Amino acid sequence: MQQTPVVTGWHCSVCGQGVAISEVFSWRCPNATSTDRHHVLELDEIIAPLRSSGDLNPFIAFQRYLAWDAFAATLGLDFAARTNTIRELDNAVALIAGTGFRTTPFERHDGLSSALSFNQDGGVWIKDETNNVAGSQKARHLFTELLHLIVTEQVGCAPWKSVAQRPALAIASCGNAAIAASTLARAVDWPIRVFVPEHADTATLNILQSLRADVVRCARRVSDPPGDPCVIKFREVIEQGDIPFGVQGPENAWCLDGGRTTGWEMAVVAEQLTGPMISRMFVQVGGGALVSSAANGFFAGGTKPRVHAVQTQGCAPLARAFERAQQSGGARNAGSRWSQCMWPWETTPSSLADGILDDETYDWIGACNAIVDSDGSPVVAPEKLIHESYQLAHRVTNINVSPTGSAGLAGLLAIRPEIADDERVIVIFSGILR
Ligand SMILES: Cc1ncc(COP(=O)(O)O)c(C=O)c1O
Ligand SMILES: [Zn+2]
Repeated sequence: MQQTPVVTGWHCSVCGQGVAISEVFSWRCPNATSTDRHHVLELDEIIAPLRSSGDLNPFIAFQRYLAWDAFAATLGLDFAARTNTIRELDNAVALIAGTGFRTTPFERHDGLSSALSFNQDGGVWIKDETNNVAGSQKARHLFTELLHLIVTEQVGCAPWKSVAQRPALAIASCGNAAIAASTLARAVDWPIRVFVPEHADTATLNILQSLRADVVRCARRVSDPPGDPCVIKFREVIEQGDIPFGVQGPENAWCLDGGRTTGWEMAVVAEQLTGPMISRMFVQVGGGALVSSAANGFFAGGTKPRVHAVQTQGCAPLARAFERAQQSGGARNAGSRWSQCMWPWETTPSSLADGILDDETYDWIGACNAIVDSDGSPVVAPEKLIHESYQLAHRVTNINVSPTGSAGLAGLLAIRPEIADDERVIVIFSGILR
């Protein structure tokens, strides 16, 4: 088994600034400021064939492809020591979450494929994240951030002297990401502040409380600048020294590292299939970290199914940005045109799929690149199809998926007439119904 790390560094998708992989706490582009958050780091890597080591834990199965692995190597840890760090942190997570990270199911769903009139050659492959740590894909993104913090502390490179002096972690989220972040924080007894919207549901708030998160509810005020009030509050505490522990690339690029595990898991299964290649991938988009990292992960396997980034009619800033970018010089590497392309959705976002109502698609550059590179497209699903996809998911599968988790399927329903019956397509059932 080849054990050399694959990631070589970072560069900013907007200003081009390079950042060494050895850099500690390299959350953001060094040129990002409190008034200019239009920067996001992306990974540089050498081309290496994608191979799983066969371990059930994806962070170990794909260890050498992680930016974290390259980072930890620069701190002087050998491959086995790095594996051990992942294993120990995973064990700590399992004690709180009831499960550690395990490759999640990915297979053709016969019932859903027939319901959508695909033939035997084609069909719908579901990536089921509902039983992942903390009930969604979100913990994958956060695990590489936590690994970064823990290994830095372990080797004595953190600026604080003792565990008691750790700055708090902070996240802005309405649901799954907050639960995932609080679960991981609890696993290592790290204090965390969670900024949630005023309308956050009781089930989520109860879970956060049981995980001992410090929950701050943020009302939308008329006097606020445009954008999500939780994100505004979150940025304030980051300025004061809290550690960004969220799933938005511009706030902490390390989320884009672990987010790729889901793509890698799908890619190695896809490689083993006989018959037609998987030709499309439908991914529901909130902040955009999932689509950009899952697509990047999948592409590492060597094939590029058309990426369809799915948003709802009630909030579709990515589709708008994609169009603007196409009209203003192209949608690939459009980062330098951020202000022209991406700004907060003007009307108060609303949908049954309430987990993807981010005012802005923070990771829009990566999302647009994945769409362009795969000849895909954004899909804006009418609200009616968000409801239909949720009902269909519950009628034909026994996966306890939430409306947000099944929203990618609404994108498939929306463009099903354009898809041949023998095509193979992916939907990600990304979150559990609580
Ligand atoms: C279940 C679920 N699926 C998908 C998403 C979208 O992920 P992202 O915000 O990375 O686009 C979210 C959260 O936003 C979610 O909670
Ligand atoms: Zn930059």
